[in-house]
Amino acid sequence: GKDGYRHYMEKELHEHPLVIGQTLQRMVDPATRKVVLPELPFNLADAPRAVMTACGSAFYAGMVGRYWLEEIARLPVDIDVASELRYRNPPLDRHSLGLLISQSGETADTLAALRALRQSDVHILSVLNVEHSSMARESDAVLGTVAGPEISVASTKAFTAQLTVLACLSIAIARARGHLDPLREEELVSALLDMPTRAADALAQNEAVRAMARVVAEARDVLYLGRGSLFPVAMEGALKLKEISYIHAEAYAAGEMKHGPISLIDSSVPIVASAPYTPLFDKTLSNLQEAKARGGRLLVFTDTKGAERVSAIAEQVVVLPHVHDFVTPILQVIPVQMLAYEVAVLKGTDVDQPRNLAKSVTVE
Ligand code: M6R
Repeated sequence: GKDGYRHYMEKELHEHPLVIGQTLQRMVDPATRKVVLPELPFNLADAPRAVMTACGSAFYAGMVGRYWLEEIARLPVDIDVASELRYRNPPLDRHSLGLLISQSGETADTLAALRALRQSDVHILSVLNVEHSSMARESDAVLGTVAGPEISVASTKAFTAQLTVLACLSIAIARARGHLDPLREEELVSALLDMPTRAADALAQNEAVRAMARVVAEARDVLYLGRGSLFPVAMEGALKLKEISYIHAEAYAAGEMKHGPISLIDSSVPIVASAPYTPLFDKTLSNLQEAKARGGRLLVFTDTKGAERVSAIAEQVVVLPHVHDFVTPILQVIPVQMLAYEVAVLKGTDVDQPRNLAKSVTVE
């Protein structure tokens, strides 16, 4: 049941700390504080590059994973939505890593992309929540997200569990490729182990998120912005808002706004920005100043350090704890999903069963 929550989505949002913790328990040895992957039938260090694919929220999780794999493991990554990848016929190097991500393991487009990748000499590693699924059967290996059953059509907890697995995988590949010294591994793993507690802190911001929701619920269009690993977080926010509140939303890489969408900005289009204090903060801040100068109303997700700088120009802020750059997307996506939920509640939509959507899309 819903355990007293109004909707499954609300219940599942509150499971973020738990599922991040459970997923880490599977992947981190508590004694050595090192990432330990299950035995794989191929050598991760041999992969010259990775090709990632998924649909919807799982695709955005993959996009965050790309930043980590490139930055930490120095592994070149190609990523595309499954419905495109399967028809692209990209040239693939032998022993490349085919990385598929799916909550259900049954998404027809992702399964078709898996079969297309099978035509080349690629090792298929799938990040799946349902471990007895069609994709599990057809993969060379599976990394499980330990999110438990997800009922709400809008994915929430599966997303942070996918990020947790991808973060651990990036650490393991970085070590295998000789790009990670033990001190740096310790630093990254510590940041991950801190996540369940920090995720609970994020959930405690629900009043501030609700205040933001009252602004968003009045809008017809909403622009989501983020940079680096926070760009996919913005995309996840825009998808979730569209999906359950039926408000039109678009996500842009913050730096891309001036190349077009800035012409949309006026006081009727709220701008939701994910801007924690990372090395890219100043760049994002200047993009937000540009938006503000054009009458934009800024609703900003940030952290304690970012709040000092952004509060002066923002109409509303949601302030999360400051965490290591590496894990910021895991933390920042939580209030972004909560915002969509609170807007849908205000709109009175069927939150768990939005119109025209199914939990797993088994047609291509
Ligand atoms: O089961 P999958 O992870 O393969 O599903 C992929 C998408 O259909 C899914 O993430 C969809 O976008 C969600 N409804 C998003 O909330």
